[in-house]
Amino acid sequence: MRGNGGSKGMRLIARICVAMAASGAGGVAFAQDQSFAGGYQATMTPELAARLKAADLAAGANFFERKCSQCHDGERTGSHAKGPFLWNAFGRKAGSVAGFEFSDAMKKTGVTWTYATLEYYLANTERAVPGKTMNFPGIPDDALRAAVVMHLRSMNDKPPALP
Ligand code: HEC
Repeated sequence: MRGNGGSKGMRLIARICVAMAASGAGGVAFAQDQSFAGGYQATMTPELAARLKAADLAAGANFFERKCSQCHDGERTGSHAKGPFLWNAFGRKAGSVAGFEFSDAMKKTGVTWTYATLEYYLANTERAVPGKTMNFPGIPDDALRAAVVMHLRSMNDKPPALP
């Protein structure tokens, strides 16, 4: 998919058109969509905080077991597999843990893993980190994604305070 700028551009234009049509206020929709076009955008919002508080922890753990654990070890004594181990991911700089060969794309994000940055990454991994090597597209369901982020929170010596 990478290097295929044409179809990517077309998809972006299509998305902007849909957003404009849906909102009826083209200018605003365009401005909002632009924030996704360039680089890593993630902020804590009251909406996200509420979703995290309401998260179904069992669903998050279950999804992690079924999908993420194919590539990630989530144990305290974790070791790297296809993906890096995720214990203590919160507060860590993306692409920084020793002993795992990250993509340049991941190393260059400059992101520290927080509720907001993890949530944004897991929404659409290629949008967040174009060129990443994690072969998993994302979790489109908002509630499930929040549940998985809350499960990641539990994989910590000191789980961070809730937002
Ligand atoms: C097919 C294998 C695979 C699957 C499935 C997968 N990952 Fe990954 N993951 C990776 C790889 C490989 C990387 C390193 C990406 C890079 O360097 O670009 C990674 C990186 C990450 C990182 C960044 C870690 C760091 O230290 O910077 C997080 C967080 C993460 N994955 C979470 C998840 C979660 C949560 C799931 C399940 C929803 C998941 N991954 C599913 C392979 C996978």
